[in-house]
Amino acid sequence: MCGIVGYLGSNGAYEILIQGLKRLEYRGYDSAGVALVNADGCLNVHKSQGKVSNLEQTAAAGDTTGHTGIAHTRWATHGEPNDINAHPHVSQSGDIALVHNGTIENYAVLKKLLSDHGFTFKSETDTEVLVQLIEYIKLTSNCTLAEAVREALLQVEGAYAIAVVERNDPDTLVVARKSSPLVIGVGDGETFIASDATPIIGYTDKVIYLENDEMAIIKRGEPLSIVSVNSNQPSKIDVQKLRLSLAQLEKGGYDTFMLKEIFEQPNTLRDCLRGRITSDNRRVVLSGVELNKEKFLEAERITLVACGTSWHAALIGKRLIQDFCQIPVEVEYASEFRYGNPVLGPKDIVISISQSGETADTLAAIEIAKEKGAFVYGVCNVVGASIPRATDSGTYIHVGPEIGVASTKAFTGQVTVLTLFALAVGQLRGTVSPEQIEEIATALKAIPATIEETLKVDAEVQKLSRIFTYAHNFLYLGRGYNYPTALEGALKLKEISYIHAEGYPAAEMKHGPIALIDHEMPSVIIAPSDSLYDKIISNVQQVKSRGGAVVAIVSKGNTAMNDIADFCIEIPEVPECLTPLVASIPLQLLAYYIAVNKGKDVDQPRNLAKSVTVE
Ligand code: F6R
Repeated sequence: MCGIVGYLGSNGAYEILIQGLKRLEYRGYDSAGVALVNADGCLNVHKSQGKVSNLEQTAAAGDTTGHTGIAHTRWATHGEPNDINAHPHVSQSGDIALVHNGTIENYAVLKKLLSDHGFTFKSETDTEVLVQLIEYIKLTSNCTLAEAVREALLQVEGAYAIAVVERNDPDTLVVARKSSPLVIGVGDGETFIASDATPIIGYTDKVIYLENDEMAIIKRGEPLSIVSVNSNQPSKIDVQKLRLSLAQLEKGGYDTFMLKEIFEQPNTLRDCLRGRITSDNRRVVLSGVELNKEKFLEAERITLVACGTSWHAALIGKRLIQDFCQIPVEVEYASEFRYGNPVLGPKDIVISISQSGETADTLAAIEIAKEKGAFVYGVCNVVGASIPRATDSGTYIHVGPEIGVASTKAFTGQVTVLTLFALAVGQLRGTVSPEQIEEIATALKAIPATIEETLKVDAEVQKLSRIFTYAHNFLYLGRGYNYPTALEGALKLKEISYIHAEGYPAAEMKHGPIALIDHEMPSVIIAPSDSLYDKIISNVQQVKSRGGAVVAIVSKGNTAMNDIADFCIEIPEVPECLTPLVASIPLQLLAYYIAVNKGKDVDQPRNLAKSVTVE
């Protein structure tokens, strides 16, 4: 979380930084700030609590000149969201400014050390400690800014992506990263830096992904220099071509990114499936599996690690892999796995699932799995992010940039890739019949069109949402493949409408949660015509007989449910393992419209950030 941007070139830095912050606002919007160094040797800092638009108002009254600058949008970790805790933080003399994404774990020790040397602190942040430490080193060692930054980073424990500028030197920008991401955009006589590539698009398509423990010294008129923070040895500079377009970052006529992303799912899944099923629908081709056949043939266990929505996709992945590959599967929250002393060996495969590819807990889980000798496979969206670079192999979901904070198209992309994965490994191990592959692959290829059809429930769901806008609690129930769908539906509602919602395996309800049911507690029950349909009918009846309202998600043509449930939403019939892909669509829409009815900011819900790069 937190987004950082930097610029050094011949254009006005302020506009570029503000536009960059707007693209990164999904990473946090508790406060925003900018520091500009101009040719007169001034370092002007503007900051403001809240969104970038607040910062623009604050900065409008001040000096925004300069061709060099850094900027930040914050998701608060240390210290409440206010103007003082907003970045950039400035050293005691006012000479050095720094922006930071990450956490400095030993900041208390460093703060004590600096206080003993007469430094005083204005904010409650860990970041201010780092900028003061850089100043202390610079003053006591009489070295350059870059040398002081490197020396300071050697003393820091934790995660960081930082950008640093200095008054009197508009020609230097120093950046570094460890665990938090940082991308450098190489323009013609200008350099951009950012937490991801989105602020850079439109200026250049040449990017460098800074590696862990590397720092870059950007000097006007000189070639870029990248060195290892630990050894100070130069690193190889690998310039890559960026494959993102500006159109992918815009709302395309929709009111919000979330709605655009919900409606874009037929197309994103087309991209996700492209080239991965043969034209006769008899084979699934995933290069990550083909290139590592031995690993998948020898595998004795698969562990899926992820967080949030990606963890829900992992639960569906478990069912798919067990059904088609007959390999035992475990699913772990990455945050629990990393501290759970997992027992792993060379016959283990760990699959990490992440939209952003930057989630700190998932990255840490990967490192542990690798240390223990497991083969690590990544399912990721953002090309070139830290997770796909850390894994042994993997598959991109290719659904394009997801900007709405609540994940929608990434979830369906992850489930699609996990289906392909299970079929590919199953066909390799001979645990899935050719008929089964053909049946599922045919339906999967048609999934974009099936979702197009499903999206026609939009108006009906919008109408339904008005009935439930002011409910205080919701229960989401599902079984088998759709228990994770229920969890995901509940998470969507919680995140954007702030209504308490719980997802439960429908049959578990009678072991406790049923006590909550009354006429004020609606239940959304996912009940497609699958192998568990008859069982779930009795769960619906249990809710109804206790006065609870039921919204049932049913397969098209199921009229029987109309007599039991209060409201039915029909979805197209698909093979059982694909039902989460279609059933999740009305759940996304229901959460969306309830939040909109309540006047909530669906793209940037309170307290959340899209990319969770801290523990
Ligand atoms: C929910 C949501 C989060 C993320 C979670 C993991 O809508 O977006 O729960 O799924 O923070 O993020 P990634 O997938 O980027 O690792």
